Amino acid sequence: MPRNIIIDTDPGQDDAVAILLALASPELRVLGLTAVAGNVPLPLTQLNALKVCELAGRPDIPVFAGCAEPLARRLVTAEHVHGKTGLDGPDLPAPKMRLQDRHAVDFIIETLRREPSGTVTICPLGPLTNIATALQKAPDIAPRIHEIVLMGGAYFEVGNITPAAEFNIYVDPEAADIVFKSGIPLVVMPLDVTHKALVTRPRVEAFRALGTRTGIAVAEMTDFFERFDIGKYGSEGAPLHDPCVIAYLLQPHLFTGRHINVEIETSSELTLGMSVADWWRVTDRAANALFIGDLHAEGFFGLLTERLARL
Ligand code: RIB
Ligand code: CA
Repeated sequence: MPRNIIIDTDPGQDDAVAILLALASPELRVLGLTAVAGNVPLPLTQLNALKVCELAGRPDIPVFAGCAEPLARRLVTAEHVHGKTGLDGPDLPAPKMRLQDRHAVDFIIETLRREPSGTVTICPLGPLTNIATALQKAPDIAPRIHEIVLMGGAYFEVGNITPAAEFNIYVDPEAADIVFKSGIPLVVMPLDVTHKALVTRPRVEAFRALGTRTGIAVAEMTDFFERFDIGKYGSEGAPLHDPCVIAYLLQPHLFTGRHINVEIETSSELTLGMSVADWWRVTDRAANALFIGDLHAEGFFGLLTERLARL
């Protein structure tokens, strides 16, 4: 029985690879994509979500536009990482498929109320604005969500957009605070693990060697995406953040972590958006998240490449 998921996303090259991995995996039933403002403004993230569905040959996937601004702050974007389109690298054609009419938040609420309780997993890959808005508008959906598996936060790796904060959390810390205090089972893929999923040159070439439209496009995306991270971290390849969420759903044994307390800083200007993870359990704060710290990188890239070959 495939697992029902909703992917909430701000494409973003790494979001795109995560979406392709999900669409290539029969273990998952993608009920819809909900776009949110993040890496680039909403008009671009919604457009990019459509482009990725068409790249995957899946114009049947419903794509919804969501929130254009964080709950309480001005939008911060990341064109410096993702390029001005948010999906620089491949030259993907303008999509033929259209956005759904409903707002993403209403789609999330209606889907959670329609599907049997406990059968839908939400996979946020960007700022948590859509998810928090849905929970505020319809608190009854919280106990109906099987779990939330999200990319966001950092502890040992500290911040990537400020010295203290990871981008997805930093953009909308109030939304993240709502999600992390919701009581919904959480699996968190922080920079601690995603910075170990480095798309090295051989791994990019393995995508290109697939010789398919998808393989070549993913190679072009990761080629572009990595130029920023190598310049910044000097690392051998860029961290492939968002696909860790989908890979966890497919092969959780590739990942290790701890069930701990994680809380979000929402007031200090110095550390705004910091995910304060009690990794060493030095407080008596209740555990609310499986916080992932490591992965089997070879296994991750083997899964990713094998699945991309199917598209
Ligand atoms: O900090 C990395 C996260 O921010 C990833 O989800 C990337 O796509 C951006 O949204
Ligand atoms: Ca993202």
